Amino acid sequence: RPLLLRRRLHPLKLVVVALVFVTFVFLIQWEVGSQSHQEEPWLKEMAVKRDAMLGIVMGAVNNFRDAMPKMQIRAPVRLSDTGGDGTSCRQGHYTVAELRPALERPPQNPLAPGAAGKPFHTNSLSPEEQKEKERGEEKHCFNLYASDRISLSRDLGADTRPSECIEQTFKRCPPLPTTSVIIVFHNEAWTTLLRTVYSVLHTSPAILLKEIILVDDASVDDILKDELDDYLKQLSIVRVVRQRERKGLITARLLGASVASGDTLTFLDAHCECYQGWLEPLLARIAENYTAVVSPDITTIDLNTFEFMKPSPYGQNHNRGNFDWSLAFGWESLPDHERRRRRDETYPIKCGSAGGSWRSSLAPSSAMFSAPRAPTPSLRAHR
Ligand SMILES: *[C@@H]1O[C@H](CO)[C@@H](O)[C@H](O)[C@H]1NC(C)=O
Repeated sequence: RPLLLRRRLHPLKLVVVALVFVTFVFLIQWEVGSQSHQEEPWLKEMAVKRDAMLGIVMGAVNNFRDAMPKMQIRAPVRLSDTGGDGTSCRQGHYTVAELRPALERPPQNPLAPGAAGKPFHTNSLSPEEQKEKERGEEKHCFNLYASDRISLSRDLGADTRPSECIEQTFKRCPPLPTTSVIIVFHNEAWTTLLRTVYSVLHTSPAILLKEIILVDDASVDDILKDELDDYLKQLSIVRVVRQRERKGLITARLLGASVASGDTLTFLDAHCECYQGWLEPLLARIAENYTAVVSPDITTIDLNTFEFMKPSPYGQNHNRGNFDWSLAFGWESLPDHERRRRRDETYPIKCGSAGGSWRSSLAPSSAMFSAPRAPTPSLRAHR
């Protein structure tokens, strides 16, 4: 019987049942309320218990209602293919001039701290400087003292990528999609956060970089509030959206995604530096097949000296991310058939996980810096 009843339950009937229940609860409340002047202790206790129960139920209902629309972003609507037939894009390849960065790097002082991605050593400091360095290390687990003295627009020196990566060009048809770069931060240091922003502006072609969206996951540092908003006014395509409550990396990324207007979404950590030419090969894979989810090869920035570990011109031993049967993330060396498929360093590596970007979100305490690097010494494409 109960089974039958459940099967026939129509949504309308459910509403009726819910209404009856609510009315019943109200009736009890009214009845208890009207009797409570008698001040019988057991009755009072029951009323308190019932109120607590009601509170829990209403809390659960509210949570459920609040959670529903926020947990998901709608799948992007695919606009009709433009350029596939060659009518809305010119044939040929993008020229260097067409791929000019969103913001030119200012002239560099080769003797400045950390110039050309070189290490900045802070070994012989005065007692005050030493104290400042220790304060920064305690708060951020990296050498903030060094970061604060390195240019926000420092360059990373001569291009050391494999030659095929440097020489690679990109077809105009179908056009490369634009991207919204989304950077989540929580009490990030001012200089590492802004160096990430400048580095994206200095290395991403203006025609491809739609915007940079910084998502504040409920930071409490004052400097990251109005002062950050004011500072970013001079960088017209950069803006901040804020979560008042701390909700974690993924929810914050989804908030960024929900306000993004680019054709694609690019997620970066808040303490990266991008190498020249990092973005075009990623977008080119998506232009080939819009179902591709791509990740660049990621190198490191030394957390003590801020030395940028530059790519090797000879390519390197590639690893790829994977998941084991308990869904724990790990690394494996490339299987032979994958190695054979790649004719040079511009070829992607098929991969069941988005590589390093997941590594840094799974192990934030390792205080590793990640920096997307350019043309595909192991561009990981996973579908
Ligand atoms: C894109 O890649 C997927 C997965 O490999 C494949 O099933 C699909 O056919 C591809 N689409 C195009 C247009 O090549």
